Amino acid sequence: MVLQAIKYTRGSLQILDQLKLPHAEVYDDIHTSTDAWHAIKEMRTRGAPAIAIVAALALAVELENIALKGELSQFGEEVKVFIEEKLEYLVTSRPTAVNLADAARKLKKVVEEAAKDDNVAGEVVKEAYIRAAEKMLVDDVQDNEAIGKHGAEWIVKNTEVGKSGQVSMLTHCNTGYVYKLFDCYKLADTTRSLATAGYGTALGVIRSLHSNGSLKHAFCTETRPYNQGSRLTAFELVHDDIPATLVTDSMAAALLRLKGPSERIAAIVVGADRVAANGDTANKIGTYSLAIAAKHHGVKFLVAAPRTTIDLRTKSGEDIVIEERPGKEVTMIKGPRHDGASLDLRNIETVSIAANGIGVWNPAFDVTPAELIDGIITEVGVVEKGSDGAFDLQRLFDDTP
Ligand code: MRU
Repeated sequence: MVLQAIKYTRGSLQILDQLKLPHAEVYDDIHTSTDAWHAIKEMRTRGAPAIAIVAALALAVELENIALKGELSQFGEEVKVFIEEKLEYLVTSRPTAVNLADAARKLKKVVEEAAKDDNVAGEVVKEAYIRAAEKMLVDDVQDNEAIGKHGAEWIVKNTEVGKSGQVSMLTHCNTGYVYKLFDCYKLADTTRSLATAGYGTALGVIRSLHSNGSLKHAFCTETRPYNQGSRLTAFELVHDDIPATLVTDSMAAALLRLKGPSERIAAIVVGADRVAANGDTANKIGTYSLAIAAKHHGVKFLVAAPRTTIDLRTKSGEDIVIEERPGKEVTMIKGPRHDGASLDLRNIETVSIAANGIGVWNPAFDVTPAELIDGIITEVGVVEKGSDGAFDLQRLFDDTP
């Protein structure tokens, strides 16, 4: 079985509806930036880098189809303004993950450059945009592979590896959304087949440990309230035959106390939605509690993220806007009816699990202070704190034009 989170070819984009997983694999067509905005807002597609890629590609598809219908402006400047407006709109879909804003900024630069000469054709600007959006998708897959490798190496070197040479890991939320993203897919401007590429970030580290024979056991949290852990991470771990156990978020601290050969957690690895310049990290709600518990138990706490998630413009966690989501995500739960013997997938029910009328606070993310983080795993290596106790994240970009 091949699982593809995104199916893209020129002029066509489909996303795997992550709200229906793990019970059904349903793909939604994304024709326009409006379709993408809604898919991101409703969390049919999710995870910081995936949000950026779906948004960028949706606009590529929209432009391609406008051109096919003969409706693309012949004036480069008009196409540039159209793209800029759509990107500004897409950025409003979810505020915390920085990857989408970062992608929009880079894509705007591309079209600005393409449209800078007088009389440039609309088609030229459109093509520059599409190629840049497609390149983002290729880069993302490559970054994931590198993150997995750097993270696995660091963990084997810096944590208590058991006699078996293996470690057990805990992760939170779902960071493996690009898994086998581009199977059977070739980009217009590359001959590289991307079959089986795409690893995920934090989950990519776990996959990499597993494929090296260095993983004893993986634990994943349920990740309330949206259950990205029990629905998506657990699904991927089962799919990949990785030895794994699901725990509720509230069991994590108790898990860290265990000292058995399989349960002894060497490190917690999580993804990120935005890493501020000082290393403070916004990630799925519950990450902060895990980091506090890790510190108390002397367990390493690692953040795995591509450099597109590091936002040097945001000085510290104080400056990160945390998205608040509807209360019904906490008070209601959705799933197929279970008749006692099996799941009835035709019958998806929403049930209330809270007292009617109770007030709800539902922040989608929290901020883990840099002091609780031992390392930030990126595609160019793992950054640790210097002798001053601070992360120097600027150096990750020193070679970037
Ligand atoms: O609300 P979500 O499901 O989009 O939140 C996802 C997370 O918090 C992930 O850990 C983060 O985006 C990193 S995904 C590689």
